Amino acid sequence: MQTPRTRIAQVLTIDPPRADVRVKGWARTVRDSKQVVFIELHDGSCFDSLQVVAGAEVGDLEPLRHITTGSALEVVGELVASPAKGQRVELRATQVTMLGKADPDYPLQKKRHSFEFLRSIAHLRPRTNTFGAVFRVRSLLAQEIHRFFADRGFVYVHTPIITASDCEGAGEMFRVTTLDVGAPPRVDGAVDWDQDFFAKPSFLTVSGQLNAEAFALGLSDVYTFGPTFRAENSNTSRHVAEFWMIEPEMAFADLDDDCDLAEAFVKQLLSAALERGASDLAFFNQRIDRGLIARLEHVVSSGFERMPYREAVDRLRKSGQAFEFPVHFGANLQAEHERHLTEKLVGRPVIVVDYPKGIKAFYMRRNDDGETVAAMDVLVPKIGELIGGSQREERHDVLAATIAEAGLDAEVYRWYLETRRFGTAPHAGFGLGFERLVMYVTGMENIRDVTPFPRTPRNCEF
Ligand code: 4AD
Ligand code: MG
Repeated sequence: MQTPRTRIAQVLTIDPPRADVRVKGWARTVRDSKQVVFIELHDGSCFDSLQVVAGAEVGDLEPLRHITTGSALEVVGELVASPAKGQRVELRATQVTMLGKADPDYPLQKKRHSFEFLRSIAHLRPRTNTFGAVFRVRSLLAQEIHRFFADRGFVYVHTPIITASDCEGAGEMFRVTTLDVGAPPRVDGAVDWDQDFFAKPSFLTVSGQLNAEAFALGLSDVYTFGPTFRAENSNTSRHVAEFWMIEPEMAFADLDDDCDLAEAFVKQLLSAALERGASDLAFFNQRIDRGLIARLEHVVSSGFERMPYREAVDRLRKSGQAFEFPVHFGANLQAEHERHLTEKLVGRPVIVVDYPKGIKAFYMRRNDDGETVAAMDVLVPKIGELIGGSQREERHDVLAATIAEAGLDAEVYRWYLETRRFGTAPHAGFGLGFERLVMYVTGMENIRDVTPFPRTPRNCEF
């Protein structure tokens, strides 16, 4: 019987010598000398690759000399202590089998490529060191998120992707339709949505929050973790049109509880990455962002500062910093303000609370001052806004009024308002942008480089 394949991550933990080790992966580099061919093999299971040394034991070396970078190979051999520097062990091949040849124009040759270039070959970049590391860390974080909530007794809810209501009321939704967009049916000149699939206008969701609220008001503590979509025409390093959001929602909770949960959540995720993603993070710390590990450790061990929006604005104004956008009470905090606050003025994550009602969504609970809402944004160095959340408006009449004030169609939100007529309760929640978290943890500076196949304006290839 054939020995089964062992992943390279495991091979690298074996104490040599060990005969009959079988690995499969892709050749990152191939170098040959007179007597041997060296193949650096990776399979994505860990950051490091495995050095394969093929000599006389494989028989004819000639075909091996022509193995191209990027080819998929199967290698069987003996794992031995490596006499050379740079690796603890190496695989002395007895058999090398070509599984899938890479044509010689394979774009990932030895030299380092720019992230921009790698975006243009998003289907091949999972083969690189950097992207292997990014997506292992992304996976680790996703798994830790489920663990965090499971440990706290939260119920995982799958909120819908297709919806009729605009959660943020910002009109940035992608329409979902089966009508012929070139010639939709019309009544009195207007499109007749009654003939569309759902007999009403429908869209891809921008957030699962409204549905999560309905579940929290029945199951107490819930969360969603799914894709969300925003047709924002912003070409920044922090925005994509399709991203994943984690949205916990807690019944019988207020804004303080919400901030506590957000802080514990971020800290646990960073600790998990530092612990279980150590070798990938060591790479990021060395090659992408020098201060990364120290920064993450600092965040885990220090408290987040909590600050009312009013104070944040005051401190930004007094800082004397020249901003592109002026800052004053009532203004939206721009990325430049958020970053200055968390990086320069505070030096650690900041939770800004109690924003003016005019710049926040309709569902946030009105504070007694009549001016602000029980909102909270978690701002972190280098990223700015990582989390947005709030205590929700649980008073039926106040909510009905804010929906009307926002110019939203009351009929669309009828079911949502009903949750406030039948056993309403104080509740709160937030949304964490998963890609921004991955940026924060890896030090990668462009959200396109932590998203498997990023969707941005005018870009939906792959
Ligand atoms: O602040 P936002 O818009 O909040 C909500 O959607 C609430 N309904 C969440 C809730 O309370 N349940 O978005 C939440 C987070 C932001 O803080 C940001 O991290 C991320 O989602 N985000 C984006 N990430 C990538 N690309 C975009 N276009 C994003 N827009 C928001
Ligand atoms: Mg927000």
